Amino acid sequence: MADKDSRAGARYADAAILDYTNRVHGAHDAGLERAFSAPDREDIPAIQVGQGEGRLLEILLRMVGARRVVEIGTLAGYSAIRCARALGEGGKVWTLELLPAHAEVARQNIAAAGLADRVEVLVGEAHALLPGLEQHAPLDAVFIDADKEGYAEYGRWAARNLRPGGLLIGDNAFLFGNLLDDTPAARAMRRFHEEAPAEFESVCIPTPDGLLVGIKR
Ligand code: SAH
Ligand code: DHB
Ligand code: MG
Repeated sequence: MADKDSRAGARYADAAILDYTNRVHGAHDAGLERAFSAPDREDIPAIQVGQGEGRLLEILLRMVGARRVVEIGTLAGYSAIRCARALGEGGKVWTLELLPAHAEVARQNIAAAGLADRVEVLVGEAHALLPGLEQHAPLDAVFIDADKEGYAEYGRWAARNLRPGGLLIGDNAFLFGNLLDDTPAARAMRRFHEEAPAEFESVCIPTPDGLLVGIKR
């Protein structure tokens, strides 16, 4: 983001550069690699966050001393493991997953990473599960990475349940390049963006997929 081309969206990272920087910074150990590569072995889509974004999650959570974290969208548990690794003493991640098959794979990966006691995988629609998590508020961070039509609602839930200084983080904030379209998902994602500044100091980090980060006022 520091010359005319990159400010306009050009990318200097390529596969080889990403491979290099991923190896140098926060490389995968066996636990992370098992979860990251689960889509290669199981019948689940390979839509986990990238290695750099996973590492960024870990760093952001450490920066705010996170102990109570809610994740919406578990998949195989890769980002949940990143979050759990960042937790302070006695910390906990509650991660919500619609599909039982994904949740089962995630539980196995989380246990294999030695984090079963710090991560609870809850199965169902996030909309139905979120009210049950309000008992754990005030939260330190909420990571949204599930159905894109739900982001605006999840963002409002986060605003109500985060402590001042807590983090809102949303993946796919560019909506795969469709953010400005006239579709329900695009309208919901734009609402997520547009409502954030009233409750958060917010920014959309131009990761390849866009990562909205906000600090609760
Ligand atoms: N955060 C994960 C990737 C999540 S992919 C990682 O980076 O490792 C998105 C997940 O959200 C999928 O597993 C999908 O089944 C789940 N999902 C989709 N809609 C959902 C909903 N309404 N409630 C809960 N989970 C949902
Ligand atoms: C999809 C979901 C994601 O969270 C993502 O990062 C990429 C793709 C999807 O539903 O296709
Ligand atoms: Mg995502």
